[in-house]
Amino acid sequence: MSDDADAIRNWWRTSIIDMEPGKIAFRGHPIEDLIGNVSFPQMIWLMTAGRLALPEEAALLEAALVAGVDHGPQAPSIAAARMTATCGVGLNNAMANGVNMLGDVHGGAGEQCAELYYDINARIEFGEAFDDAVQSGLDAWRAQNGKIVSGFGHRFHKPIDPRAPRLMTIVRDAAKAGTVKGRYADIGEAVQANLSTRKPLAMNIDGATAVIFCELGFPAPLSRGLFCLSRSVGILSHAWEQMQQGGRNKGPMPPAYLPKYDKV
Ligand SMILES: CC(C)(COP(=O)(O)OP(=O)(O)OC[C@H]1O[C@@H](n2cnc3c(N)ncnc32)[C@H](O)[C@@H]1OP(=O)(O)O)[C@@H](O)C(=O)NCCC(=O)NCCS
Repeated sequence: MSDDADAIRNWWRTSIIDMEPGKIAFRGHPIEDLIGNVSFPQMIWLMTAGRLALPEEAALLEAALVAGVDHGPQAPSIAAARMTATCGVGLNNAMANGVNMLGDVHGGAGEQCAELYYDINARIEFGEAFDDAVQSGLDAWRAQNGKIVSGFGHRFHKPIDPRAPRLMTIVRDAAKAGTVKGRYADIGEAVQANLSTRKPLAMNIDGATAVIFCELGFPAPLSRGLFCLSRSVGILSHAWEQMQQGGRNKGPMPPAYLPKYDKV
C-alpha cells in the first residue's frame, strides 16, 4: 500500500467497530451475535467501556438509566425540547436542544460528583482513614469549587429525592451479591451525612447515579454522557408529546404574561 493510502486509512482509527462490506462487528463481536442476545445497557457498555458486561452489571447500569429519564417540563432541558418542537423543526433538533442544556448545574452534576467520589476513594487507598478521606475530599472540593457540592440538594425533593434511596438499595443488593464492592455507596452516603449535619440535604439523581457509575468503573466524564442517554428518552417523549398537542412558537411563558421591563 502506498504511503498516501496508509495515511488516508489511518486518518480515523477505532477499536469500536470493524466494518467492511458484509461485516459489522463491535469490539470483536459480530452484530448478528449481539442482536437478540444482549440488552441495550450491555450494548452501551460494550460500545463505551469496551467489554461485554455481565447481565448483573448491566442491570445496575439499567437502573441508573431508568431513574434519570425525565423530570418534567419545569426542567430546563425538557422545556427547551418542548419549545423547540413548536418551531417547525424535526425531533432531532428538539432533542439536540434539550441535551445541549445538560450542564454542570442541570443534569451534568454527576460527572463532578463522580470526580469527588473517585478523589475520596484515592485518598482512602493512599492510606487515609475513611472519615478523614471524606472530610479532606470535601475540603479540597470546596477550596476549588465553592460550597455547593454537585450531586446533592434538590429544588423540589427536600429532604429526600425518591430516586436516590431506591438506587442505593439496588447498589447495596448488588454489593451483597458480589456484583460490585459497595465502596462508592459508602462514600456517597458518607458525603450526604457530612453535608446534612446542619439540615438534611438530599442525595439527588446525579449523586446516586454517580455512585453506580463509579461502582461500575466508568470514568467520570462518561457519567455525563450516560446521563444524557437516559434523559434523551424523556426529552424525546416530551418533544413528541408537544408535537402531538400542536402549538406554534410556544415561548417560556403564556403570552398573557410578559417579562418585567427594567426601565433604563
Ligand atoms: C439543586 C440546587 C440548585 C437546589 O438549590 P436550593 O433549592 O437553593 O437548595 P436549598 O434551598 O435546599 O438549600 C438549603 C441549604 O443547603 C445548601 N445547599 C444546597 N445544595 C447544596 C449542595 N449541593 N452542597 C452544599 N450545600 C448545599 C444551600 O446553600 C442552603 O444553605 P443556606 O441555608 O446556608 O443558604 C442545589 O442543591 C445545587 O446546586 N446542587 C448541586 C448541583 C446538582 O447536583 N444539580 C443537580 C440537581 S438534580
